[in-house]
Formats: sequence, C-alpha cells, structure tokens
Amino acid sequence: MNSRSKRVAVIGAGISGIVAAAHLKEEGVGVTVFERSSAAGGIWLYDERPPLEPTYPSIIPWEAERKHTSCDPALNLTEAEFRRLSHAPPGPCYIGLKNNVPTRLLETTLNPFPPKTPDFVSHSVLKEYIQDTAMKMGVHEITRYDTEVKNLSKNGHDWVLEAVTLNHQSTDGVTLTSSVSKFDAIVVASGHYHSPRIPDIPGLAALKQYWPTRIQHSKGYRRPDTFKDKNILLIGASVSSTDIARELGPFARTIYQSHRNGQFDLPASLLPENAIRVSEVVSFDVPPSKSSNIALGPTDPIPTTISLKSGQTLCSIHAIVLCTGYHTALPFLLTHYSPANTPPTDACPTTLITNGMQLHNLHKDIFYIPDSSLLFIGVPYFTATFTLFEFQAMVAAKVVAGKVKLPREDQMRSEYEERVRVKGHGKAFHSLRGVEEEYVDELIGWANEQLEAGERLEGHTPAWKEGKKEQMERLKALFAGDGVEQKELELIC
Ligand SMILES: Cc1cc2nc3c(=O)[nH]c(=O)nc-3n(C[C@H](O)[C@H](O)[C@H](O)COP(=O)(O)OP(=O)(O)OC[C@H]3O[C@@H](n4cnc5c(N)ncnc54)[C@H](O)[C@@H]3O)c2cc1C
Ligand SMILES: NC(=O)c1ccc[n+]([C@@H]2O[C@H](COP(=O)([O-])OP(=O)(O)OC[C@H]3O[C@@H](n4cnc5c(N)ncnc54)[C@H](OP(=O)(O)O)[C@@H]3O)[C@@H](O)[C@H]2O)c1
Repeated sequence: MNSRSKRVAVIGAGISGIVAAAHLKEEGVGVTVFERSSAAGGIWLYDERPPLEPTYPSIIPWEAERKHTSCDPALNLTEAEFRRLSHAPPGPCYIGLKNNVPTRLLETTLNPFPPKTPDFVSHSVLKEYIQDTAMKMGVHEITRYDTEVKNLSKNGHDWVLEAVTLNHQSTDGVTLTSSVSKFDAIVVASGHYHSPRIPDIPGLAALKQYWPTRIQHSKGYRRPDTFKDKNILLIGASVSSTDIARELGPFARTIYQSHRNGQFDLPASLLPENAIRVSEVVSFDVPPSKSSNIALGPTDPIPTTISLKSGQTLCSIHAIVLCTGYHTALPFLLTHYSPANTPPTDACPTTLITNGMQLHNLHKDIFYIPDSSLLFIGVPYFTATFTLFEFQAMVAAKVVAGKVKLPREDQMRSEYEERVRVKGHGKAFHSLRGVEEEYVDELIGWANEQLEAGERLEGHTPAWKEGKKEQMERLKALFAGDGVEQKELELIC
C-alpha cells in the first residue's frame, strides 16, 4: 500500500498530536485527528472549571479509569455541564503556569515563535503556538474536535476506532453521537497527565468525603487567591508541588510540603519564605462521624491531626493539595491492560499498562513491538517536550510512509529487554534526563541510514544545543542551592 492510500488516526491535538499529524500529512498519508476538547493545545489550554473528582484512593490505573456515570447532586452541576466535564475533562493548567523549559528549546521546525518571544511565557502563549501550528500545517481542518476516542480494536489488518462526539446545542443541552471508522494505523498522542494518582493514606478518603472542597489533586488547582491566609499542606515535592507552593506563597499563611525523598523531588531551597518541607504523611486522624457532619466556616481549619513519618504532627490545616502525579492511562485500550495488581515485572509481551507508572513493550518509546501499526508520540519526559516529540513524529511518519523499515520483532524485543535490564521498571523508564540528545541522534541516525539523500532528517541545531547547555547550567545552579536554606520546623500543633 503506498502512503497516499493509508488512513491514519491521531488521538489527541496537544503538541504531540499536531506534530505527528503535520509530518504524516507531509508524507501524503490520509490523517484524521480526534480531539475530545473543543480546541487544540492539550495541557496548555487553561480552563477555569475544575475537573470532576477522581476516586479516593486511586493508586492503580483501573481505579483511575472508573468514570462518573451519573451527576452527583452535591456537585451542583446541570446534566449538560456534567456531560461536558466527563466528555472532555479540563486539564491541569493553572492561572500562573509558565513553561519551565525555555521557548527557544521548544520551537519546532514547523513554526517559529513570534519574534522576541521571551524564554518563559504564560500558558496562553504556548496554547497559541500549538493552535497556530495546527492552522499553518493544515491540521486544524482534519481534526474532529469534541470527539473522544472510546475504544480501539483490531479486525484483520484494520484498526476499528469507536468515538463519541459531543454536540453543543444552542440551549444548555448537549447530545452525544457515536461513530465507528477504520484505519491502517493509529498514533496515540493522548498525553500522560490526565488520571490523577490519589494516595491511599489512612484517613484521607474519609476527610475527602466529609469536606470535599478542602482536599483536591493538583490537577484541579486553578488560582492562589482562594487560599488567602490559609495553612496549606502540599503532598509530594516534585514540580507541581513546588510551582504551586511558589504561586501560593504571597497569599497563604504557612505552606507545608510533605515529601518522601522522591527521585524527582525539587530542592527545598526553591520554596517560598513561608513554606516548610516536612516528612511523609503517615495518617490523617478522622474525627468521630458525628462531628464530621459539621459544616466548616471559611476560616475553620479541617478538624484533623496529621501524623508524619518523623513522629511530628500537623494540625490547623485549611486545605490539602495532592501533588502526587498521574497514572499513564489508555482508557481506549483497556484490552492491553494487565489484570489489576499485576506488577510491572510481570508484564507480558502484549501488555501496555500495568501499574500506570510506565508503558510497556514499545520500541524506542514509539512503536508497539507486537504490532507496529500502533504508534505512540509524546511518551518520554525530562525533555524539551515539543522538539523531542517532533523528532519522534518525523521518524514515525517515515515509517508509516514505508520509507524506513523497523527491525524484525525479535530484534526490537531484545533491544527493549536490554533497556529494561539497564533502567528497571517504573516511572524513570521513560525519563530522558541527561540523554535527550543521545536519544535524538540515535533515532535520526537510524532513520537516515535508510533514507534517500533528499529525504534525510536533521537533528538538534547548534543553537538548540547551545540553549540546552545554558539550561543545564541554570538547573545545576538551582540544585546547588539545595540544603543551604534549612528552615526551622514550626509545626502548628
Ligand atoms: C502542569 C504541567 C506543566 C507542564 N509544563 C511543562 C513545561 O514547562 N515544559 C515542558 O516541556 N513540558 C511541560 N509539561 C509536559 C507537557 O505534558 C508537554 O509540554 C506537552 O504539552 C504534552 O503534550 P501532549 O500532546 O503529549 O499531551 P497533552 O498536552 O496532554 O495533549 C493530549 C491531548 O489528547 C486529548 N485526548 C486524550 N485522550 C483522548 C481521547 N480518548 N480522545 C480524544 N482526545 C483525547 C486531550 O484532550 C489533549 O488535548 C507540563 C505538564 C504539566 C501537567
Ligand atoms: N511548567 C511548570 O512549571 C510545571 C508545573 C507543574 C508541573 N509541571 C510538569 O508536570 C508534570 C507532572 O509533575 P507533577 O509534579 O504533577 O508529578 P510528578 O513529577 O510525578 O511528581 C509527583 C510527586 O508526588 C510524590 N508522591 C506520590 N505519592 C506520594 C505520597 N503518598 N507521599 C508523598 N509524596 C508522594 C512523588 O514521589 P515518588 O517519586 O516517591 O513517587 C513525586 O515526587 C511534570 O512533567 C512536570 O515537569 C511543570
């Protein structure tokens, strides 16, 4: 089959989906993009509405996939609002979110940023960049917005894609329309920051039930002003926690950041003056059920005592934000999940998801080894995401177009197994910290071995490499500050 007669579906119109669709289009492939939101942009789309609440706890992806099936009256939502929220859940973007990787490292070959764009910009600039790229590359016209992919299955060589489109009506009502279409290949570009990971800390689920508005995951955090003069506990000490602490700093009374020496924690020295790092939360003391009916006034703290691993306790906390990260989830490929509680070490050769901390059985984080007509763009992290995803998209498009052949399945398998042996299982499996350039050089180098002279791909430019070096220096300086600024632990009970 030549590339012009190939039909490819791309799932998602964030940066990964847009660059994938653009490069497939350049190869003459017939592309349809499916995006459940009404616009492109993915996580950079700011939406004032918080998402529907996840399940408490939600420590495996099966739980995270359990959807709300009906509108809880306590949510105070109309049926139409509820349907909109469950169809296209608002993302994790908050009012003060800026990129933490400079724009000059994020600029794709498809579209320059407007002249004089600063290195660090508001989320809206990145949203506009993604949407402008979609327009300029003709991806906008081939995108079915408001359309959620619900299920993928295989019928012979065809992928059968089942989707549901939400039709906005002039009144408050909405309707849903189902559709089924067939494709030769599927590119999954659905992102990995959708399903909040909610820890199973004793007492947390009960507190959430009693005082739902006081406890939230960082995915639902939007703005700092509602936390004025409050004591706040942030659980987790990675990027969301530290960035939200810095945003809350000028508003909050005291911020407690609870950590468990995570591999990806940021230095405590990045916290604002009124924030203190504390140890892991062991339990939340739950008041007797009678007092749990008490409605809290706006200035009342949550009536709980919080026990920490250090043996210390916290109380007078008004709000808790769980900055505990996300599950990697593929709700439209549940057939590729292993049974609940299967450890990653027991993933079989066709499994994609076990505990949600990584994807399994991908060649170079892109090609599903048992069936390379299923591709993934946007899986690695600790990278300059936009550019890295574009390099993946360039190579994926050449493979789909038949210009680059993948190694035999057994060769891909042994390369993958070697990587598992070296990196082990878990979140760090897809991290490209310190090896991003190596990954791109290897990927592009491998494709170029098979491409004709005029078709060869170029990797990172010298300017990009220079920018990356500067970013690494900046990060080194930030991390060097760690431990300098140890604050006195002032626990409030
Ligand atoms: C809070 C936060 C801040 C970040 N900041 C940075 C940063 O500063 N710098 C950086 O480089 N990276 C950052 N990242 C990483 C970020 O994920 C990437 O920058 C990038 O935007 C990811 O793009 P994506 O297209 O892969 O995924 P997303 O942006 O998540 O896009 C995926 C799209 O797929 C759609 N979708 C999902 N499921 C379906 C379905 N079933 N059917 C149809 N559509 C579907 C979604 O609606 C979404 O539009 C941040 C991530 C988060 C969570
Ligand atoms: N542009 C920006 O400024 C910005 C802002 C926010 C987020 N982001 C990006 O968004 C993505 C997601 O970041 P994230 O911070 O939300 O998720 P994350 O990086 O996965 O971090 C989750 C953190 O929660 C910790 N954790 C989980 N369960 C815990 C528990 N029970 N007790 C204590 N700690 C617990 C984890 O520790 P363990 O490692 O021990 O599990 C980890 O430190 C990243 O790519 C990040 O760069 C960027």
